[in-house]
Amino acid sequence: MKINGKTITCGLIGNPVEHTLSPVIHNNLAEKLGTNLVYVPFLVESGELEAAIKGGHALHIRGMNVTVPHKSAVIPYLCGIDPLAESIGAVNTLVYQEDGYKGYNTDMSGLFRAMQTEGIGIKGENVLLLGAGGAARAVAYLCATAGAKKIYLCNRTLQKAEEIAGEIRMQAEGAQIAALSYEEIEGLTETSFLAIQCTSVGLYPNVSDVVLADGPVYDRIHTGVDLIYRPYETQFMKLVKAHGGKTMNGLKMLLYQGIIAYELWNQCDVPEEQADDILQMMKEEMGIYE
Ligand code: ATR
Repeated sequence: MKINGKTITCGLIGNPVEHTLSPVIHNNLAEKLGTNLVYVPFLVESGELEAAIKGGHALHIRGMNVTVPHKSAVIPYLCGIDPLAESIGAVNTLVYQEDGYKGYNTDMSGLFRAMQTEGIGIKGENVLLLGAGGAARAVAYLCATAGAKKIYLCNRTLQKAEEIAGEIRMQAEGAQIAALSYEEIEGLTETSFLAIQCTSVGLYPNVSDVVLADGPVYDRIHTGVDLIYRPYETQFMKLVKAHGGKTMNGLKMLLYQGIIAYELWNQCDVPEEQADDILQMMKEEMGIYE
């Protein structure tokens, strides 16, 4: 790709940004789709967030992804916010508008699309959601709005799970959501669960850690989704597999949040063949050959 006077610039704002896979997604998509676009990481300190947004707009940066620690902090500096992002309270994608940036959350639409490509549905499922941080809250909202039959929100700090459950009940009318501790899981009466692991437990380098200890409940988990992708197979996924369940890690969620952002920035649809190729490139970048 030749950088010239018409090159569109996009980027990522966060802190830290040096381990991001997003440039692999966007620069390769641009290359494959023949779009004159470059995507670069921008390190932005918390105190500089407003200046970064204003500066980015002044420079006509077409789109930005937003990562830790700015996903909620960025909201006051936007000219508009998509209703999904507003409900979740977190923005990961900014789209240039004449009067500022509009904020979106493609993490959740990305997770949903990634699960669809793996044949994993939410509708009618009993969902065992592990964790009650920002990621878990967003996934709880997704499950509630995507027609889960029942959502069990499990967390070490029960109060945080209760708070989120209360918020989701208010936001998604009719949502069946209950907070519980990890110790209470075995006592549930349902025989089949979709489990979604939303904690940081098991993340590299603590690869042998798992938030839900091995036990009979794993026999009832037909599918285990882990939002973590480093390591590529977490201890949680290993346990789900060992008990006969299907697994998915967080790499496809990362891919599709990027693809949906790219589609918003360029007003296009990314074909599935391109998505598969980009996933391979992300794996190679991570040193995974399979
Ligand atoms: P994020 O915004 O990425 O979801 P977070 O808000 O820090 O991150 O949430 C991290 C989640 O991992 C929480 O559910 C946390 O449980 P607590 O609310 O009890 O802190 C969970 N978590 C982190 N370390 C844990 C551990 N060692 N055991 C159990 N849960 C843990």
